[in-house]
Amino acid sequence: MKYQDYSREQRDAELSTLWEGINKIKEKNIKLNMARGVPSPDQLDLSRKMLDILTSESDCHAEDGTDCCNYGVMDGIPECKKLMADVMGVTPDMVMVGGNSSLNMMFDTIALFMTHPVTGGTPAWSLVPDRKFLCPVPGYDRHFGVTEYFGFQMIPVPMDENGPDMELVEELVKDPTVKGMWCVPKYSNPSGISYSDEVVRRIAALQPAAADFRVMWDNAYCIHDLTDDHDEILNIFEECEKTGNIDMPIEFCSTSKITFPGSGVAAMAASANNMAVIKGKYKLQNIGYDKLNMLRHVRFFGDIEGMKAHMKKHAEILRPRFEIVLNKLGENLDELGIIRYNRPRGGYFVCVDVLDGTAKRVVELCKEAGVNLTGAGATYPYGNDPHDSNIRIAPSFPSLEDLASAMDIFCLCARIAALEKLNA
Ligand SMILES: Cc1ncc(COP(=O)(O)O)c(C=O)c1O
Repeated sequence: MKYQDYSREQRDAELSTLWEGINKIKEKNIKLNMARGVPSPDQLDLSRKMLDILTSESDCHAEDGTDCCNYGVMDGIPECKKLMADVMGVTPDMVMVGGNSSLNMMFDTIALFMTHPVTGGTPAWSLVPDRKFLCPVPGYDRHFGVTEYFGFQMIPVPMDENGPDMELVEELVKDPTVKGMWCVPKYSNPSGISYSDEVVRRIAALQPAAADFRVMWDNAYCIHDLTDDHDEILNIFEECEKTGNIDMPIEFCSTSKITFPGSGVAAMAASANNMAVIKGKYKLQNIGYDKLNMLRHVRFFGDIEGMKAHMKKHAEILRPRFEIVLNKLGENLDELGIIRYNRPRGGYFVCVDVLDGTAKRVVELCKEAGVNLTGAGATYPYGNDPHDSNIRIAPSFPSLEDLASAMDIFCLCARIAALEKLNA
């Protein structure tokens, strides 16, 4: 029966039982973390052998003879460009391999466009005082942090199971001060949805008033499938080629959640026009990123097929964790009418909408009981979730046992917060 259909007496009785439960848990002084999408130690172990690959001087040369121990090769060694191009489904000439963080490359890209015009004839973004950026919601808090830092007014665009509301996007881009849009097209952080073909085609077909409108295509979870029956998205560059918009997207990815978040390889892909501007900056910024790490990655995987086989091992570790989260939500909350959640086929998150007006309270109650969740509101620009309902659950890091306990606590807290709200 739904909590909404309970009588006041039934709710009060249920609340006191739930409080008893949570108070007992508090006595155990639990400390569990489901806040960030961090691979578990078991996942890191999958790549640990990579650290033993380069042991002698002769191991350290790229296929074109470059000594990877020395300076040089600003955009990445050829074999790593090829590997990362295959990850993104583009050609190596479109790729620049960077350091260990794609977020860093995204930050750098926005920073570059702030000071240098993206397209001939347009002012640098810093000269546009009321500059705006489209932010599909719920979204990735660190994206929003970057555009907030650079003084963009962030415009939330609601997402459904197909991706961002394209009717709204098409309307908003008529404003020339709208300079770009964040996209996580596959297994989106946090909603787990992948953009439908129609959404990708409509993005590619956008006719923004700003000639320097850019789509930040953060394909962070492009090969991060949990099941063989996985999502596929259209290739944004192929679609933009067809619509004459090849300069619009800039794609990003990394091996943070393939090998090591602390020491992966990040890459970006862009049209020749964009790359000319981007490399013009990088060649002043860096004489060459960590080529030994690039080489290690290539030798470890061999090619994209090796990398995909490796991702299946990650999926084996991650799948039971997602199952725990989904089963616990289903068993404890489904019939109470206080929750909606996704069933992602990949990525790192389960996105939960608790009863409107209770997300902050759920996060607070969980914290008091020893479970750390991503802050309520973090999935919206300025931390402002208008419904106070969205919570991102990151199941990857805790052990199976800890995750089950954390989810029991989460479910108890969601129920308490819902009853308090309904009683208010
Ligand atoms: C959508 C998205 N983009 C980027 C990142 C960070 O990537 P990187 O480690 O390559 O900086 C994350 C990490 O959680 C993410 O979820």
